[in-house]
Amino acid sequence: MSEYGVISKEIIEQFILILEEEWVERDPEVLARYSHDETEDLRFLPELALSPRTPEQISEILRICSEHRIPVTPRGAGTGLSGGAIPVRGGVVISTWRMNDILEIDPHNMMVITEPGVITQELQEEVRKFNLYYPPDPASKGSCFIGGNVAENSGGPRAVKYGVVKDWVLNLEVVLPNGDIIWTGANTLKNSTGYNLTQLFVGSEGTLGIITKIVLRLIPYPPHRITLLAPFRQMRKAMEAVSAIFMKGLNPSALEFMERDALVRAMEFAGRGALPLDEKTQAHLLIEVDGFKMDPLYEDCEKISEILEDFDVGEILIADNEKDKAALWHLRSRVAEAVKAHSVYKEEDTVVPRAYLPQLIDKVKEIGRKYGFQSVCYGHAGDGNLHVNILKGDLSDRFWNEGLNEALRELFIEVRKLGGTISGEHGIGWVQKAFLPIVFSPAEITAMKNIKKIFDPLNILNPDKIFP
Ligand code: LAC
Ligand code: ZN
Repeated sequence: MSEYGVISKEIIEQFILILEEEWVERDPEVLARYSHDETEDLRFLPELALSPRTPEQISEILRICSEHRIPVTPRGAGTGLSGGAIPVRGGVVISTWRMNDILEIDPHNMMVITEPGVITQELQEEVRKFNLYYPPDPASKGSCFIGGNVAENSGGPRAVKYGVVKDWVLNLEVVLPNGDIIWTGANTLKNSTGYNLTQLFVGSEGTLGIITKIVLRLIPYPPHRITLLAPFRQMRKAMEAVSAIFMKGLNPSALEFMERDALVRAMEFAGRGALPLDEKTQAHLLIEVDGFKMDPLYEDCEKISEILEDFDVGEILIADNEKDKAALWHLRSRVAEAVKAHSVYKEEDTVVPRAYLPQLIDKVKEIGRKYGFQSVCYGHAGDGNLHVNILKGDLSDRFWNEGLNEALRELFIEVRKLGGTISGEHGIGWVQKAFLPIVFSPAEITAMKNIKKIFDPLNILNPDKIFP
C-alpha cells in the first residue's frame, strides 16, 4: 500500500474551486503530455495536472495536498534531462506555464523580477531592450522556463565566463509544501543576513518548495562577439588545448567541445549549415569571445589561434557576422536533439576540474570499449563539463537496463577520482539518484535529507527525486 493518499472527488472539487474547471486537467491526452520531460524515453502519468496563476493558489493547493498527503510534482516547460519533472508517484502535477509575466525590469538597479513560467530566451530579449544582459543560456533557451532553470541550476555555454544560474539569482519567492509563502533573501547585490536560503532553493529540483517569483541581477549587454570553430585531428589534443587557453590569460565567453559524431549528427539533423569537415578531424572546439569593442576581440582570436597551433589544430573557421555565428550556434544547440533522434540514449553530465578533461575523455572511451557501447561526447569544455551521450544502437535490452549501470558506476568513480562529480548542470532528478553515493558519503546524504525533512516533513513535494 502506498503511504500517499488518493485524490478523491471532493479533493478535485476543492481544486476546481481554487482554479476553475479549465485549469484542473483530467483528460488522458493532456496528462500524457505531463508524463515525461526530455529525459530518455521515460513515462509516468499523473492523475491530475493543475495550472495555477498565482502563488496564493499554489499555497491553497499545497495545503490540501499536505492535508491528504498527495504527491506533487512541480513542472516548468518539461525540458529537463534528469527526470526531475516526471510525476513518478502519480498524484498532481503543478505546472507554472500560466505564471508567465515579467513583472518588472529595473534598469537603475539592473535587475529583473519575473514569474517562473517565462521562456528564458524571451526574458533575455526583453531585458536586452534596456541594453541589459542575462547570460545563462541553456541549449533549450527557446522553450525552457526560467523557473525550471533556477530549480535545476542550469548552465549552458556562456557559464564559462558568466557563471551558471545561481550566480544571477538574488531573491526568490517560494511556496513551501505546507502552503507558507516566503521570500528567501533580499533584492540586493550583497547579503550577509541569515542563512542563504536563496542558494538552497537554487538547484533544489522542486523538492523543497515551488518557486513563484525570481529576482535576477543583470549586467550591461556586451554587443560584440566573434565565434571560432577549430578542428582537431586528435580528440585528446582538443581537450588539452582548453586549459591552455585560460592559462594564457584569455577569458572566452564560450568554449565548447564537440566530438566529430556530435557535429555530424547535428548537421544531418538541422538540415542546414553544412560545414567543411576534413576526414581526419576527430573533434572541434567552438570558442567565442565577447565584449564592448571589436578590436580587442580580434586580438583575442589571434592569440587563441596561436595557442591552438601547439595542439595540432586544423584550419580555424572565423564567424564574425550574425549569419555565420547563428549557424554555428544553431548546430551546437541541436546536438542533444540530434543524438536523441538517432537512437535511444542515456545522457550523462560529467564534470571535472577543467585541466583533467583529457583524462576524462580517455576514460569515457576506454569504458565504452570495455562494455561495448558507443558514446557521443560534447559539452561545455571551458567548465570541465562533458555531456556523454550513450547510444543504445544494437545493444540488448538486458545490457541497457542492467549492464550499463555497472559501466556508468565505473565512469562516475573515475570522475570522482579526478575531483569531479556526476552532474554539472542537468541535475540528479530521477535518473542519477542511484549514483549519488559515489560522490557523497552517508553523512553528507543524511545532511541533505534532513534539510528536505525540515521543508517537507510529509515528503509530498517531488518525492523519490535526488536521493537513492
Ligand atoms: C547541451 C544541453 C544538453 O549542452 O545541456 O546541449
Ligand atoms: Zn549542456
